[in-house]
Amino acid sequence: VNLAELLEGRRVCVCAGSGGVGKTTTSAAIALGMAARGGRVAVVTIDPARRLADALGLEDLSNRPTRVPAERLAAAGVHGSGELWAMMLDPKRTFDELIDRVAPSSARAQEIKANRVYRELSTAVSGSQEFTAVSKLYELAAEGEFDLLVLDTPPSRSALEFLDAPRRLTSFLEGRALRAFLRPTSLGVRLLGVGAVPLLGGLRRITGVDLVADLTTFFGLLGDMTGDFSRRAREVEGLLRSPQTAFLLVTSAESEPIDEAIWLRRALDGSELHLAGVVVNRFHHDLDPGAEGEGVVSLLAERLGESLAERVAANFADYHVLARRDARNVARLRCELAREPLLLVPHLDGDLHDLPGLRRLLSYLFGSEEERARLIADAVA
Ligand SMILES: Nc1ncnc2c1ncn2[C@@H]1O[C@H](COP(=O)(O)OP(=O)(O)O)[C@@H](O)[C@H]1O
Ligand SMILES: [Mg+2]
Repeated sequence: VNLAELLEGRRVCVCAGSGGVGKTTTSAAIALGMAARGGRVAVVTIDPARRLADALGLEDLSNRPTRVPAERLAAAGVHGSGELWAMMLDPKRTFDELIDRVAPSSARAQEIKANRVYRELSTAVSGSQEFTAVSKLYELAAEGEFDLLVLDTPPSRSALEFLDAPRRLTSFLEGRALRAFLRPTSLGVRLLGVGAVPLLGGLRRITGVDLVADLTTFFGLLGDMTGDFSRRAREVEGLLRSPQTAFLLVTSAESEPIDEAIWLRRALDGSELHLAGVVVNRFHHDLDPGAEGEGVVSLLAERLGESLAERVAANFADYHVLARRDARNVARLRCELAREPLLLVPHLDGDLHDLPGLRRLLSYLFGSEEERARLIADAVA
């Protein structure tokens, strides 16, 4: 099974997993691979490395996907009628657009956007990125201009936090409990002070008495717009649960990300989300499980000299340890999977921050099983 088969008939692919494992790179590679197969594909990325952003033409600040020029794809060896589009998520702007869309008048939208609580909320790192990522996804899916949307997810502390954030944020915006609590006469405010309101976690940085005033104004301004937020949240959830949406778990083979992947796998089990498969990125294949350091030294000593040969052997031994660790971790993860396929992408040397670099990943993600086995055998040889 390869990714083209896994994504057959899907409209959305969400790449979930802990930070630093290669989610952004993998999302971009998947989008490139599906475009190479003739699709009109958009990837929504979050915080890409500078050079990857350049390669995908993400300097455009429209907060909409822009097309990667066909010549640039051709230069990287990707031909055909497929289209690759890319955008970098701008949470503040996505939030603003959402307010513009649901506010009853532009005057009200302006007032909300100028409100201090709103400004904190829309730029708070935790929560708003997650919320706006799925909000943008929903918007693009509703417009229906693309065959496939690939969503890179924010570097949340935990991947599950991402799935939960929209719900948490909408329930905050709905703010029923909070509103009641914050009525100036409310017993809660008088007795405990605002610091006691647990829902204010994301707003911790604001302190002081006029927070209450600001919050009251904020919720006053939101008024009956909160109905729109909840409707939207339900629709977003519907999209995430749709059989046309594939979740792809991306992880590296290190212990911690594997632990988190296992945890997320179990969590997804109880949800109505569809886990399509797992990508283990930056995997170290064992070069020669039988070989030991000693053998390497004697093999190379004649050609490299004793001391260099010893260094190579030490290096080889280190790699061997790494490879064994990776194999153990992947085996742990495999035990948790039912039918979901697991794709191994090796840790590649050299640069992956441009289109030819991304293209190097495609054979691992999109190759047939035989092709992938051959690649790995070649690498080992
Ligand atoms: N298979 C791989 N082999 C080698 N380096 C990789 C691989 N995948 C990703 N990288 C590198 O790892 C770094 C982190 O990747 P990135 O996609 O930004 O991770 P994330 O989005 O999960 O934080 C980048 O420098 C990227 O080029
Ligand atoms: Mg990233």
